[in-house]
Amino acid sequence: MSPAVVVTLPLPKAALAALDGPLTLRVWDQPGPMPREVLHEWLEGAEAVLCSLGTQFSAETIKRAPSLKVVSSISVGVDHIDLLAATAAGLPIGHTPGVLVDSTADMALALMLASSRRIAEADRFMRQGGWQTGWDAGFFLGTDISRATVGLVGMGPIGQAVARRLAGFGARVIAWNRTPRDIPGVEWVDLDTLFAAADIVSLHTALTSETQGLVNANRLAAMRDGATLINTARGGLVDETALIAELSSGRLNAGLDVFAQEPPPADSPLFALDNVVLVPHLGSATAATRGAMLQRALQNVLAGVRGERLPFCANPEVYAQA
Ligand code: DGY
Repeated sequence: MSPAVVVTLPLPKAALAALDGPLTLRVWDQPGPMPREVLHEWLEGAEAVLCSLGTQFSAETIKRAPSLKVVSSISVGVDHIDLLAATAAGLPIGHTPGVLVDSTADMALALMLASSRRIAEADRFMRQGGWQTGWDAGFFLGTDISRATVGLVGMGPIGQAVARRLAGFGARVIAWNRTPRDIPGVEWVDLDTLFAAADIVSLHTALTSETQGLVNANRLAAMRDGATLINTARGGLVDETALIAELSSGRLNAGLDVFAQEPPPADSPLFALDNVVLVPHLGSATAATRGAMLQRALQNVLAGVRGERLPFCANPEVYAQA
């Protein structure tokens, strides 16, 4: 019997052609995340998992799957997987770095523009028949990116791609990174200065135990009146309750691609607020980028079941201990 691969999300058969044949696939084809009990049952005897952000791999799940040789996530972020437990169990975790940098940076800029020029709000206004009076000098006045100070939290590849785009807009870019880097046109500041000085704060750092809740109530309170928070990274970076309080008071604006809970609960106050632009975790959502992510993820599955080093490994230290 060929090695079994559990695929935890519905994917078109053609997308999985590289695996079908050499491997036996078991594909979860229902909408929504695979229930934990079903995952545990399917993991028995499985050698590989192809998953995405919706599948949590806790230490407990990893412990229950001793036959696994690889977990390959179609994502660059791996905060849904307990990396320490995986490494301790000698389990390599695959991810998809590099290929979604530009798409995610584009989404950050799209949210900055949509928020600062009130695009979504004006679109709703028109569709509801609100435009009755002709051109109005006071309609939907916004702010200019070219006049803004934009603070980037995290200057890995995505933060740097956002900085390059902002240079084209003529914005002043200030940034914070755990390890400062020399990047032309970017002024390095500490986090407190960044939150106090920026007209727009945009998040580009991974979610880890250190960055969880990094944008807390104090940092939000330190932001300038009328400033905007953009999040295309992870919802867990932000105290969403504190953000909702600032948005509800009208003091801050936001553009959000990611949320504390995905999807947010149907009664989330976010849905009633006009000063927040909402998109459903679409940072990497272009056909080309999603295709490239899938290719990397499939390469990781194939390497893992063959016992080879994963080409895109999120816990390379797993090999040091072998
Ligand atoms: C990732 O890859 O981590 C993104 O959040 C999914 O687009």
